[in-house]
Amino acid sequence: MLKGKRINLAPIKREYIESFLKWFNDPEITQYLVRYRPMTKMGEEDWIENLKNQENSIHFAIVILAEDGSEKLIGNCGIHNVDWKNRVGELGIVIGEKDYQNRGYGTEVIELLLEYGFDTVNLNRIELYVYDYNIRALRSYQKAGFTEEGRKRQFMWNKGKYYDAIIMGILAEEWSEKKK
Ligand SMILES: CC(C)(COP(=O)(O)OP(=O)(O)OC[C@H]1O[C@@H](n2cnc3c(N)ncnc32)[C@H](O)[C@@H]1OP(=O)(O)O)[C@@H](O)C(=O)NCCC(=O)NCCS
Repeated sequence: MLKGKRINLAPIKREYIESFLKWFNDPEITQYLVRYRPMTKMGEEDWIENLKNQENSIHFAIVILAEDGSEKLIGNCGIHNVDWKNRVGELGIVIGEKDYQNRGYGTEVIELLLEYGFDTVNLNRIELYVYDYNIRALRSYQKAGFTEEGRKRQFMWNKGKYYDAIIMGILAEEWSEKKK
């Protein structure tokens, strides 16, 4: 469990499947993700079953702890496709509970993942792709310390138009500088 100020990053549990199905079948959420096919319960169960074999990805549930000790699941996140030789990982995040978007939780999660990725996993570079119409994600990545490194032009087809994918990255040295 990684403890932040308002959120914790916890291990994925089977009981989260229903929330994952709700989020990953919601076009308002999936318009920002690579995923576009319907997510089935079987597919989600297989994914959870396979987590133990995924040596190159580290997944977390994003939970808020209430004062009475109960937890509220609001999203999931992780560091994926880790290249152990070059010490590079790819950050992914979804705040699936829409009432919890735009309240600063995403930026806090991204910062907690960066701290974990650099200080615990010993990565040297963390990167991601974000579609250029995803202003909210762009803003939260920038706030956490990512910078734009380039663009894949017309990478994403969405609602009748092609959009660029922005390549963003942050290096361990930039993260240490930001923390000072
Ligand atoms: C992207 C995501 C993780 C961001 O987390 P969040 O908790 O919603 O974002 P935060 O509240 O931390 O920060 C959002 C920032 O964007 C700004 N913002 C939101 N909508 C905006 C808009 N239309 N124009 C300009 N800025 C906007 C907010 O004001 C805030 O910046 P500020 O703190 O400087 O005011 C979350 O919204 C999410 O999971 N979205 C759906 C899935 C997704 O897009 N995943 C990422 C794929 S790359």
